[in-house]
Amino acid sequence: MSFDSIREGSGLPALDTPRLFIRGRTLAELESCLVMDRDPEVTRFIKGPWGDPVVHRRFVEFRINRAYPPGLGYWSIWERSAPDVFVGWVMLIPDHGVGPDVEIGWRLVRTAWGRGLASEAARALVQHAFQTVRLARVIADIDARNTASRRVAEKIGMRLVGMVDDEGGASCARYRVERGDR
Ligand SMILES: CC(C)(COP(=O)(O)OP(=O)(O)OC[C@H]1O[C@@H](n2cnc3c(N)ncnc32)[C@H](O)[C@@H]1OP(=O)(O)O)[C@@H](O)C(=O)NCCC(=O)NCCS
Repeated sequence: MSFDSIREGSGLPALDTPRLFIRGRTLAELESCLVMDRDPEVTRFIKGPWGDPVVHRRFVEFRINRAYPPGLGYWSIWERSAPDVFVGWVMLIPDHGVGPDVEIGWRLVRTAWGRGLASEAARALVQHAFQTVRLARVIADIDARNTASRRVAEKIGMRLVGMVDDEGGASCARYRVERGDR
């Protein structure tokens, strides 16, 4: 499969960075996303239907296919140095699917961790959120124990604004960045 063909169909702009191709996610990445989620280290702090193959597939398919407000959605990531290898995704979507807040998030395959790739992709996404979509602010609720993800939020300029409990009762750190912060 050529790299060009992977990018078609999402309706989202490319957010490429010095090391990364960041392109709207399509069904071409479905299997790669499922494989990534099946790594228990990847989904350690994230609730989801990871253990049920049928529900899991339906869940990711729905998130790829559903309509998001203009400029929002999921972007897949590849390294320029290895453009055939799916690295993960970043997202900018209405909080809990409905908003009004907009949530930013990131998930990478384990082999890609520890090289600053999530922060690089997330910075590009924050820039898109403020400069193109013209959002007033972006939030992230991160399991308090998820140190790597909290560090990504801090590195891209998000501030810890409080603690919230998610539906399952896990304590989450709420981060926020506002357009005026930058
Ligand atoms: C969170 C995640 C995307 C980070 O990806 P990454 O490319 O490794 O992130 P970066 O390299 O940009 O930054 C990670 C930072 O956390 C730090 N870090 C990682 N693990 C850590 C740990 N256990 N303790 C302390 N710091 C840690 C790294 O040192 C780095 O900070 P630094 O640049 O100041 O050294 C990746 O670990 C992942 O996909 N996790 C599973 C999915 C997930 O939890 N997503 C977030 C849900 S809210």
